[in-house]
Amino acid sequence: MAPASELDIQGTRKTQDSVSNSWNTVSSSPTLAFHSPSNAGGAPLTRVSTARQLKPFATEDVKVLLLENVNATGVNILRGAGYQVECVKKSLPEDELIQKIKDVHVIGIRSKTKLTARVLDAAQHLLVIGCFCIGTNQVDLAHAARRGIAVFNSPFSNSRSVAELVIGEVIALARQLGDRSTELHSGTWNKVSAGCWEVRGKTLGIVGYGHIGSQLSVLAEAMGMTVIYYDVVNLMALGVARQTATLKDCLELSDFVTLHVPETPETTGMFGEQEFGWMKKGSYLINNARGSVVDIPALINAMRSGKLAGAALDVYPNEPGGNGDYFNHELSAWVDDLRSLKNLILTPHIGGSTEEAQSAIGTEVGEALARYVNEGNTIGAVNMPEVNLRSLTPDQTATLRVIYIHRNVPGVLRKVNEVLGNHNVDKQMTDSRGEVAYLMADISDVDQNEIKEIWHSLEELTSCIRTRMLY
Ligand SMILES: NC(=O)c1ccc[n+]([C@@H]2O[C@H](COP(=O)([O-])OP(=O)(O)OC[C@H]3O[C@@H](n4cnc5c(N)ncnc54)[C@H](O)[C@@H]3O)[C@@H](O)[C@H]2O)c1
Repeated sequence: MAPASELDIQGTRKTQDSVSNSWNTVSSSPTLAFHSPSNAGGAPLTRVSTARQLKPFATEDVKVLLLENVNATGVNILRGAGYQVECVKKSLPEDELIQKIKDVHVIGIRSKTKLTARVLDAAQHLLVIGCFCIGTNQVDLAHAARRGIAVFNSPFSNSRSVAELVIGEVIALARQLGDRSTELHSGTWNKVSAGCWEVRGKTLGIVGYGHIGSQLSVLAEAMGMTVIYYDVVNLMALGVARQTATLKDCLELSDFVTLHVPETPETTGMFGEQEFGWMKKGSYLINNARGSVVDIPALINAMRSGKLAGAALDVYPNEPGGNGDYFNHELSAWVDDLRSLKNLILTPHIGGSTEEAQSAIGTEVGEALARYVNEGNTIGAVNMPEVNLRSLTPDQTATLRVIYIHRNVPGVLRKVNEVLGNHNVDKQMTDSRGEVAYLMADISDVDQNEIKEIWHSLEELTSCIRTRMLY
């Protein structure tokens, strides 16, 4: 490769000291602008890497808009990457968002901002969306993919918070803490021991032994509980926990049953009259998973009949859109029944709501965004195929990374390889997800004129959604 250089806006080559450049990546139109990396610096990303850093552009040209008071950990990572970061405390209405998003390369949101097809169509420079939360249904994911915009979220940063809440609920239910506290708040002293238990030696049945269920397993054993679990997948037990063959086995043996399954067609309504029937008399149910998993009228019947000694619900089939006096019969017919039941802990979907979880979400999504912008890595993306190439070593200075987001149509790879085939392709990976495919290739010994040619040839293919060149 020629000495480190950059092309200015007219396409003239200028010598410079660094090779950390890219070809037309921030903008989706060919601006012929090459930049030297920012000297402004800022803090490095939290993980220090010995790999060669691919900087696709002058980092201070990357405009980031963070809405809804994104956690400071995320803001710091993106500022540390050298980007221009604007933070707004609230979400924006659609028309205002359309104005704001026009110049932005990266947007970070939480659950209130709606990124509709109309908004995304206005976002001419947008490369990537970060949902600093768990859910992504506020984004038109398919439309974003069709526009070549990757979307990241943070599905597991709050697992520990949920697991700890469940431990609290197990003890609170066993000791009827909710009721005692409510009574005393209203002036009633009610010292009882009947129906109150230690949790040591009791059996906890975990339904869904994933991120949350498995952490909970370790915590519960530390309190002297016996742990069994049911999962559709055969999973290695932690500690001395034991997997049961069927859901029925798990429910028949458990003193406490806690649900940690995802919301899928199979889990919708999976816990109803039959499952309550399988549970031990005087046992407890905890649902911190998704509201659709439990049939609420069947739960109410199980509580009223004395089959259950208590329950804790953090999630509901219908949940209010915001904070306020909304947990009443207008939300659903069963709300008043739930509110009237004894030893039923009701919490407003706070399982994952802790300062630590918010901070972890900020870090995870912030890092995913910077990795995507700087290296093209889509691991963890929710609307694109997950593709990554191993990092370049510092001596691979003349290596170009090509990222080609394209429509997944027959014959496309042959055409791409006609463009790349004359070069020394070190490594290449491609994967598709529905109608969109993502290709990454590292090409060595490329000079600047070839970069331009490759970019133009790929952009001219009818399958092209977006081409990025990092080097
Ligand atoms: N209350 C909250 O604030 C809160 C916070 C985070 C997560 N959640 C919810 O908790 C649930 C679990 O989250 P996670 O991160 O542990 O998920 P996960 O994907 O890591 O684990 C889910 C487990 O459930 C198993 N599973 C799937 N279908 C099943 C079925 N029909 N029967 C038995 N097992 C089944 C899977 O094999 C997997 O092991 C999800 O529904 C998630 O939305 C709630």
